[in-house]
Amino acid sequence: MSAPGPIGLAQVEAALREHHQGLESTYKVTPAGMWTCSQTHEVHQLLSNLDLSPYRHLADLGSGDGRVVLLASLFLPATGLEADPELVAASQKMAAGLGLSQARFFCADCRQADLSPYDLMFIYPDKPLDWLVERLPPDWPGSLLVYGPYFQPSGLRHLRTLYAGETLCTMWHR
Ligand SMILES: C[S@@+](CC[C@H](N)C(=O)[O-])C[C@H]1O[C@@H](n2cnc3c(N)ncnc32)[C@H](O)[C@@H]1O
Repeated sequence: MSAPGPIGLAQVEAALREHHQGLESTYKVTPAGMWTCSQTHEVHQLLSNLDLSPYRHLADLGSGDGRVVLLASLFLPATGLEADPELVAASQKMAAGLGLSQARFFCADCRQADLSPYDLMFIYPDKPLDWLVERLPPDWPGSLLVYGPYFQPSGLRHLRTLYAGETLCTMWHR
């Protein structure tokens, strides 16, 4: 019997596929917004192409089914903050099943959460981001990655624009 290989993109995608087979839809209204999914291969490519060495902990603000955190935890500790308890439970179950000990999930309103532990934040926003700059510590040293072109934060410094596959993403600093 061969030893199990390291967990990677394929294993995370398989876990997500299995989870999604039991769902009626991969789009729903949640207690705080709208759930829809980023593309796993794009997020994996985005994280693989970034220099992650300066960062200690990623947070996904509105983590949906947990895919970004599951993928990010292959590289660094990662936390998902999500308002929908079912999505959080599913994310926790997949992380446990995959043995991804660097991934954790909390059912929380990310607009009320303490964001200071996180120096790399990801968001696939479902609404405008005006609230975000107010929640960041004044001396926050981190970077914010925004997936998709529709909502951009105000009050932060644009660092670069990059593509994850076909999806335009932007990176921001305090
Ligand atoms: C467009 S989905 C993105 C999901 C995931 N980040 C991804 O890339 O697949 C946005 C998610 O943010 C969640 N959300 C929106 N506002 C939130 C809030 N204030 N606190 C926690 N979760 C929130 C929604 O419930 C939804 O699951």
